[in-house]
Amino acid sequence: MTGSRGKLFARALAAAAGLSLMAGVGAAEPAPAGPSVEALSFNCYTCHGPDGRSPAAMPSLQGKHADYLLRRLLEFKQGKGHPTIMDRIARGYSDEELADIAAYIAAQTPSTGERR
Ligand code: HEC
Repeated sequence: MTGSRGKLFARALAAAAGLSLMAGVGAAEPAPAGPSVEALSFNCYTCHGPDGRSPAAMPSLQGKHADYLLRRLLEFKQGKGHPTIMDRIARGYSDEELADIAAYIAAQTPSTGERR
């Protein structure tokens, strides 16, 4: 029994290693110690659309200035402007991470070239 459990464990480990390898593919630079700014920003895209370009009612982030994005994020962190969810999200990041995310998102260009 121990043998087959060991095999299962080894397979799970191999799968996990494969996943983390896949996560590394497509990153522009080698990942730093913490999650990359790209990975942090992907959390935002679940609501704000791919590359921050929202197709629906959610405000788009794409095309907005890094300074503007950072100011809004810091305001959310302080609970300003009656946010529904962004205050909770912004509090999960350090000011430095928010600045990195704002800069990263602001650097993304629209993939289609259509009006933002
Ligand atoms: C769960 C969905 C959700 C996620 C995840 C999310 N946002 Fe938001 N975001 C919102 C909503 C909703 C608003 C409108 C303000 C509010 O109600 O909180 C908003 C507003 C904003 C605004 C203001 C836009 C403007 O034009 O003033 C910025 C900037 C922003 N989000 C950045 C981010 C960043 C950066 C992340 C990732 C760290 C992120 N959001 C993750 C839902 C989300």
